[in-house]
Amino acid sequence: MRNPSLGLYIHIPWCVQKCPYCDFNSHGLKSSLPENEYVAHLLDDLAIDAARVKGREITSIFIGGGTPSLFSAESIATLLDGVKQRVALSERAEITLEANPGTVEAGRFDGYAQAGVNRISMGIQSFQNHHLKALGRIHDTDQASRAITLAKAAPLNSFNVDLMHGLPDQSISNALDDLDRAIAMSPRHLSWYQLTIEPNTPFYSKPPELPDDDILWEIQSQGHKRLKAAGFEQYEISGYSQAGFQCQHNLNYWRFGDYLGIGCGAHGKITDINSGEIVRTVKVKHPRGYMDIARPYLDTSSTVEKEDLAFEFFMNRFRLVEPCPKQDFTDFTGQTLSSQELAELSKAREQGLIEESELHWQVTAKGRRYLNSLLSAFV
Ligand SMILES: C[S@@+](CC[C@H](N)C(=O)[O-])C[C@H]1O[C@@H](n2cnc3c(N)ncnc32)[C@H](O)[C@@H]1O
Ligand code: SF4
Repeated sequence: MRNPSLGLYIHIPWCVQKCPYCDFNSHGLKSSLPENEYVAHLLDDLAIDAARVKGREITSIFIGGGTPSLFSAESIATLLDGVKQRVALSERAEITLEANPGTVEAGRFDGYAQAGVNRISMGIQSFQNHHLKALGRIHDTDQASRAITLAKAAPLNSFNVDLMHGLPDQSISNALDDLDRAIAMSPRHLSWYQLTIEPNTPFYSKPPELPDDDILWEIQSQGHKRLKAAGFEQYEISGYSQAGFQCQHNLNYWRFGDYLGIGCGAHGKITDINSGEIVRTVKVKHPRGYMDIARPYLDTSSTVEKEDLAFEFFMNRFRLVEPCPKQDFTDFTGQTLSSQELAELSKAREQGLIEESELHWQVTAKGRRYLNSLLSAFV
């Protein structure tokens, strides 16, 4: 086995208010933000995790949420300085911070950049006020455009726009119009998600009227063409970027890389190439429990079962458009494929779900569309 790349995910669990479609571990703010206290906990949490990755360099950081842009530039500077004191951080590391257009004012992005952030991911969702309202967003179209203009003016390497489609009552032309407006802002990266209705959300208990499957399919295929024409390459199911601007942190997840996860409910995955074990960690989910000094930060830690490794590897790897080196499977899982699994891959090739060469597997557009059936071979 060889060590895969190592990322660091940092979770900030608060938002101004909860959006009715969102099932992320985030809480609407009811009182003041315990910013300093939380940063101190994050750094203590990291100090413990650092022992798991001694001697390894972190190549990307993603500060996600929730709404990390609720935190001041000073807090983010304290956080990133503290990270550098506890783990080895590559000088070229991609450092992303998620921002909500309703929480940023002039100067904010310059402050984040000074703190070390070099990529902003902006949760826009739509450029149309009636959709923003239906989605319970705290910002309107003007604020969305203004936040993007501010981010573009800051000394960052890249910025991403999160956009959703398949919104309540959305027509094909309406979704494409949103996409055109996003493209017109020339982001380096665009995450284009189809709205999904998640259990335990207000949209689940009171579902809005969503476009039917034929409309969704047209939105996707026409939208894909528009993105391509505008110079965006699809490199993952929902991930599009200009050449060279893929999100390195997310690429590492999908290439079955390792990551530390600090903060409320954060997940980690660490490989020990000596024992051949892959351990998954989950931190205490609720902010109150996480910040309770009488409790450890770690909620659960479990070793991935050998028989689950093929499924886990391909579930991540087959989201990516790029070819997968066959050697990565052995290097990153310590396993070889069983004859039954190899037969399943041959069958998938005959069905046009993957292409195969001597050294690589590569999922096809059809394979990405029927990903669940492709993966069922490894369950
Ligand atoms: C963790 S959120 C963080 C961004 C930031 N909190 C915001 O919303 O502005 C990441 C992205 O996931 C997407 N997302 C969240 N819930 C979703 C859902 N139910 N279906 C599809 N995409 C979703 C949104 O585009 C969102 O910007
Ligand atoms: S702002 Fe983002 S993380 Fe917060 S509730 Fe809305 S979608 Fe979820």
